[in-house]
Amino acid sequence: MEYTEAWLKYRCLSLSRQQCEEKLYNSLISYAVTSEEGLKESPCFAMLISEFEQGVESLLGSRPCRVYDGSETLRFAVDPTFGTQDAYLIDFTQKDGFGAVTAHDAKGLLYGVFRLLQLVATGQTLAGLKQTCIPSNPLRMLNHWDNMDGSIERGYSGRSFFFADDQVLVNERTRAYARLVASVGINAVVINNVNVRSAATYLITDRYFDKVRALSEIFDEYGISLYLSLNFAAPIELGGLEVSDPLDPGVINWWKEKMAEVYAAVPKLGGFLVKADSEGRPGPFTYGRDHADGANMLARAVQPYGGRIIWRCFVYNCRQDWRDTKTDRARSGYDNFMPLDGRFLDNVILQIKNGPMDFQVREPVHPLFGGLMHTNQMLEVQIAQEYTGQQKHVCYLLPMFKQILDFKTYMPGHEDATVADIISTRALKNANGGIAAVANTGNDENWTGHDLAAANLYGFGRLAFDTTVDPESVAREWAQLTFAGSTQEAIDAIVDILMRSWPAYEKYTSPLGIGWMVNPNHHYGPNVEGYEFDRWGTYHRANWRGIGVDRTTKGTGYTMQYREPNASMYENVETCPEELLLFFHFIPYDYVLKTGKTLIQHIYDTHFEGAQEAEGFLDTWKKLEGQIEDKEAYERVLERLTIQADSAVEWRDRINTYFYRRCGVSDQKGRKIYE
Ligand code: GCU
Repeated sequence: MEYTEAWLKYRCLSLSRQQCEEKLYNSLISYAVTSEEGLKESPCFAMLISEFEQGVESLLGSRPCRVYDGSETLRFAVDPTFGTQDAYLIDFTQKDGFGAVTAHDAKGLLYGVFRLLQLVATGQTLAGLKQTCIPSNPLRMLNHWDNMDGSIERGYSGRSFFFADDQVLVNERTRAYARLVASVGINAVVINNVNVRSAATYLITDRYFDKVRALSEIFDEYGISLYLSLNFAAPIELGGLEVSDPLDPGVINWWKEKMAEVYAAVPKLGGFLVKADSEGRPGPFTYGRDHADGANMLARAVQPYGGRIIWRCFVYNCRQDWRDTKTDRARSGYDNFMPLDGRFLDNVILQIKNGPMDFQVREPVHPLFGGLMHTNQMLEVQIAQEYTGQQKHVCYLLPMFKQILDFKTYMPGHEDATVADIISTRALKNANGGIAAVANTGNDENWTGHDLAAANLYGFGRLAFDTTVDPESVAREWAQLTFAGSTQEAIDAIVDILMRSWPAYEKYTSPLGIGWMVNPNHHYGPNVEGYEFDRWGTYHRANWRGIGVDRTTKGTGYTMQYREPNASMYENVETCPEELLLFFHFIPYDYVLKTGKTLIQHIYDTHFEGAQEAEGFLDTWKKLEGQIEDKEAYERVLERLTIQADSAVEWRDRINTYFYRRCGVSDQKGRKIYE
């Protein structure tokens, strides 16, 4: 087998007839589809029926049969008055003991079927169950940073399964992928890297139309819209124009004609993702235009086809001088986009990274959330573990994402609005919004390199669909599905490792929200000054007195980009959450934290603790030998946890040694710190 079924194994439950009856699983055996008329046209329809029949057959050992005479025990129905797009209801509370899956539309029914199968696969009783699922986010998206030569920018699970040798791949794995991500509610996928270069620029030409269309049609069967990343300089590179100025009539016309051509060839295309004026990519700044000019020009070109332009806010000066303490990369997203609030067209969505820097293990929430009030917004997170252990370390990110989504922005007039409320469009009543994750997949057999990293893929989908889910329950559900057939002790241990993994990683890497301290370029492993004197604006400012960046009004003024009371909370050293202390303040090593420990002792202690926890994950795993049904998966995880434990020791020693050398203060507990 070239790839696993991950959480879609549907391992046979081997239940007795009595057990099936108790859980009401016997009601899955005969079904009817009411209101089939509207459904039949949907490309999802055939898919959901076969998914249901095969899923039940593999879980329960007998294939459900479809009946037409009113004798069914389960009913699938579409009711457009129920919920919103993609919503569904699973209801086993009917008096007659029968079940029903009712959905707003065919896609909702597909999600309902997947959910029902997940419930059965995890052994939950259906008797008395009633689950209403109305998706929190209109767009639930994955961004693949795959290049057309088959490499993946920040990919840690092998090569691309979308591209190889400048060709688009359409094969069985494409389908397996679509099925996998649709099963957790993903409804939009960008297949190519945001850095659009060379062959990828040609994805919008007839060189690739056939394959792109084929891909979009497979995706469509699973309710997924295909998106492409776009090169803003395409009018020059493809069209031979002199400029790509968004206000130039020739450029405007070129895009108009280009989009007519693209949508004629690939009518199901959802739209485009654009990284402009960022890290060397072309954009409107070259012509003295702004991001609204650029995004709106493209938005007008795709508007007749219902297309969307997703425009990234990751815009900053990447040619900084480390001696300049006033320019602050953290400020740049807000400084660039806040003045444009209200100028973007309805089919533009700004995609904003969760924090103002770049997917560090801990960052404050991006101040554009709660800042912008008249603009469609999407949250961008990264499940590719670029800065969180590159899928060699286990780092379950849902607890982090949850904190971000639950952050209160204090947007005027919507004081209770969290990030989740904004992106879901609940708070601002925008038509467009959602959440995107930079994907963590590749063509490795297990999809994500580290088997436990698949929890982030599964979990992201579940969280995107329902921002109120509990990360631990999701971890358990994922572990039960993926490691079906393993012992209860093993499942409990996996959940425990996952839930402790983010805090552990945070402890042994850079302290209290300051970030970075990684090796330049590839970003794996410790290098405290790796980025300190570089051009990227990623400084920690450690010296003999202390460490941290003064982002208060006395420093870069970044704190004032937040709404009150958040601005004051961060501004004031006493009220600033300690996990972000060094992000906002320069703190002396002898500063006493709320725990009563000095900053330097905190650094030593957390690094010893973190490395010990990583060691503990490995010990726990070793005890599970023979308890994980999939022996190859056991071995793979064992190998990665060993790498992690070693790497955590290296992190511990490098960080502790660095700070010991800076301040000369010994560890109160007398542990080994290198000189
Ligand atoms: C990070 C990452 C890059 C990526 C960029 C982006 O800087 O290291 O590889 O291109 O983010 O989000 O555009």
